[in-house]
Amino acid sequence: SGPEVAQLVASRVLDVPDFPQPGVMFKDLMPLFADGAVFREVIDGIIAYHGRDSFDTVAGIEARGFVLAAAIAYATGVGVVPVRKAGKLPRATHAASYALEYGEATLEVHQDAFTAGHRVLVVDDVLATGGTAEATLDLVERAGGTVAGFTVLLELGFLDGRERLAPRPVHALLTV
Ligand code: PRP
Repeated sequence: SGPEVAQLVASRVLDVPDFPQPGVMFKDLMPLFADGAVFREVIDGIIAYHGRDSFDTVAGIEARGFVLAAAIAYATGVGVVPVRKAGKLPRATHAASYALEYGEATLEVHQDAFTAGHRVLVVDDVLATGGTAEATLDLVERAGGTVAGFTVLLELGFLDGRERLAPRPVHALLTV
């Protein structure tokens, strides 16, 4: 259930102060990924929340979103698309720049990544300021996809990323 999955996430996140820069509290979810039973429960919970017939493709945001997206794709039989940091994709891309909690970055997706009208579930580990997610949802739509949903394991509610993405719905397994 929702509260049980939230508790699992809460029990598998480590706070790392001053990473990658002084003043930033990094939320490290590696313990969750490393626990096979918990990882499977989290993946199954995401699929159950959205419904396995609600999306045609899953897009993962570099880097930890790749791990989540691959597992969801395998479990549901859909394909997986990576949304990558600038300069990593080999063919023609759409690009979107955004301000991070720390610094600035650009994300890219292949222009032919999505079949027109395909419903795309977007996943990442953490929603902080929402810059990464905002850029990604924009890229999905520019590449011809329709955003079917956006899910994160952990939402940092005090950074108001959810408001930035409104009116698009955000699903977080745990909000702190
Ligand atoms: C983290 C996290 C999200 C993003 C959220 O990625 O995995 O993708 O930041 O921040 P935002 O909501 O403020 O945009 P990170 O920058 O650590 O990149 P990485 O996954 O490649 O290590």
